[in-house]
Amino acid sequence: MAANYSEKVMEHFRNPRNVGEMENPDGVGKVGNPTCGDIMEMYIKVKDNVITDVKFKTFGCGAAIATSSMSTEMIKGKTIEEALKLSNRAVADALGGLPPVKMHCSVLAEEAVKAAIDDYLKKTTGKGLPGFKPSDGPICEH
Ligand code: FES
Repeated sequence: MAANYSEKVMEHFRNPRNVGEMENPDGVGKVGNPTCGDIMEMYIKVKDNVITDVKFKTFGCGAAIATSSMSTEMIKGKTIEEALKLSNRAVADALGGLPPVKMHCSVLAEEAVKAAIDDYLKKTTGKGLPGFKPSDGPICEH
């Protein structure tokens, strides 16, 4: 099925920002969608509580790639607290919206950011993000 993607989604899908792996990341988040099998990995570098660099690898649909690309742009240069406020809806809005059947894909991006921060907090403070369970991945509906 061809979904109705906005120009901005297509642009990020064709030219995703911050793709790749990172050497010695301070936090790594890996989340998966158990139904469609799509996987997203996010790497962050943190200095003085600020996310100085972000990279991602996504094996997934166009919406998953576009939302991970957009979310890396939205959290780069932000503090941990600011990055935690990033919602999947804000990412979708920044992309000019997503077709309703693709909204759940954007949840993967929000979860990947949270998983990377959770990992960073565990490494630096010994405690993860309160209440965060990376295994509670979003469910794909097709
Ligand atoms: Fe699986 Fe989009 S994340 S179809």
